[in-house]
Amino acid sequence: MANYTLSSTITLPEFIRAQQVLHPNASSDLTNVLLSIALATKVVARGVNMAGLASMLGMTGETNVQGEAVQKLDVFADQVFGAMLGKSGEVISMVSEEREQLFAAQNTTRESKYVVAFDPLDGSSNIDVNVAIGTIWGVSRRESRRAKVDPAHPRDFLQPGERQVAAGYTIYGSSTMFVFSTGDGVNGFILDPEIGEFVLTHPKMRIPESGATYSCNEGNYHSWSNGVKRFVDGCKQNGASRPKPLSLRYVGSLVADFHRTMLKGGIFLYPADKRNPGGKLRLLYECAPLAFIVEQAGGRASDGTSRILGITPKDIHDRSPFIIGSPRLVEECEREVAEHQ
Ligand code: AHG
Ligand code: MN
Ligand code: MN
Repeated sequence: MANYTLSSTITLPEFIRAQQVLHPNASSDLTNVLLSIALATKVVARGVNMAGLASMLGMTGETNVQGEAVQKLDVFADQVFGAMLGKSGEVISMVSEEREQLFAAQNTTRESKYVVAFDPLDGSSNIDVNVAIGTIWGVSRRESRRAKVDPAHPRDFLQPGERQVAAGYTIYGSSTMFVFSTGDGVNGFILDPEIGEFVLTHPKMRIPESGATYSCNEGNYHSWSNGVKRFVDGCKQNGASRPKPLSLRYVGSLVADFHRTMLKGGIFLYPADKRNPGGKLRLLYECAPLAFIVEQAGGRASDGTSRILGITPKDIHDRSPFIIGSPRLVEECEREVAEHQ
C-alpha cells in the first residue's frame, strides 16, 4: 500500500479544480480538457505496461507522415488521445504527430474553443526495449471564432507557442508521471495504480540554473554547425565556466532526456544536421509544449538563435533545431552559435 493517506495529499483532479478557483482566467472548459488529457494518459499508461503481454509491441508495417515506421503503440496512443479529447466537447480540432492532416473533434459545440497538438507516443524506438517513453501535448485557444467556416482550420494551430494556455508531458517510466503547466508554474504527479489517480509529488518544479549533464546524439557531431560543435567540445572540458566536464546522458526519448534535465539541470540539444537541416523535432507537439514547461520552471528553450515560444509555425508538422534546459547552459550554447556561425 502506498505510504501516504489520501487526506494528506492532492490528486490531479483536485489540483486542477483548485487552480480553476484560484485563477479567474482558468475556466471549467479548460479544466475539462485537462481532465480528458489525464484520463487518456492513464489509458495509454495501461496500454504501455501491458503491451508486451498483449502483443502490442512491434511495428504496424506502415510509415507515418514523418516517414517513420509506425509502432502499434503509436497508433493506440493516437486513437486514445483523439477519442478522449474529441468527446470532451471543449476541443474543436487536433493535430497529432501520427496524422498527416489536422482533424476535427467528433463532439464539438459552438462553445468549443480549444485546439490540441500532441505527440501521442514519444520515443517510439524505445518501446520494445523497455526504455522510458512518453506523451507530449499543448493546448491553445482557436485563433478566431469562425462560426460558418469549417471548424477545423490550420490557422488555429499556426500560432507561436507563447499563446499556449496549457502544456505538459507524461513519462511512462519506472513510474508514470504527469507534468503540466497552465502558465502559473509547473507541477508533477505520479500515478498510484492502486487508486488509479495521479497524486501531487513534485509541486512548483524549478529547473536548476545549471547542471552536470549534456544530452545529444553525438553520432551526428560531424554534421553540426561550428558553434554547436564548440559548445559540445566545451562540455567535455573543465575550464573557467565549469569546474569539471559534464557527463553525457542520452536515452533517445525526448521526454525522458527532458524530464531528467528538468529535475537535475543540464542541457538537451537536437541541432540541425545533414539529415535534418531544419532540425528533427517537431515544433508544434514536441518543442513548443516543452519550451512552455521549461520557461515556467525558470529554464530556456531556443532553436540556437530564437526563443522557441516566439516562433510561428508555417505548417503543422514544422520541425526545429531544439536546445533546452538550464538557462546558463542554453545561453552558453547560444553564445557559441552566435560567435561561430
Ligand atoms: P518520436 O518517437 O515521437 O518520433 O520521437 C523520437 C524523437 C525524440 O523522442 C528523441 O529525442 C529523438 O527522436 C531521437 O532521435 P535520434 O534517434 O535521431 O537520436
Ligand atoms: Mn516525439
Ligand atoms: Mn511520437
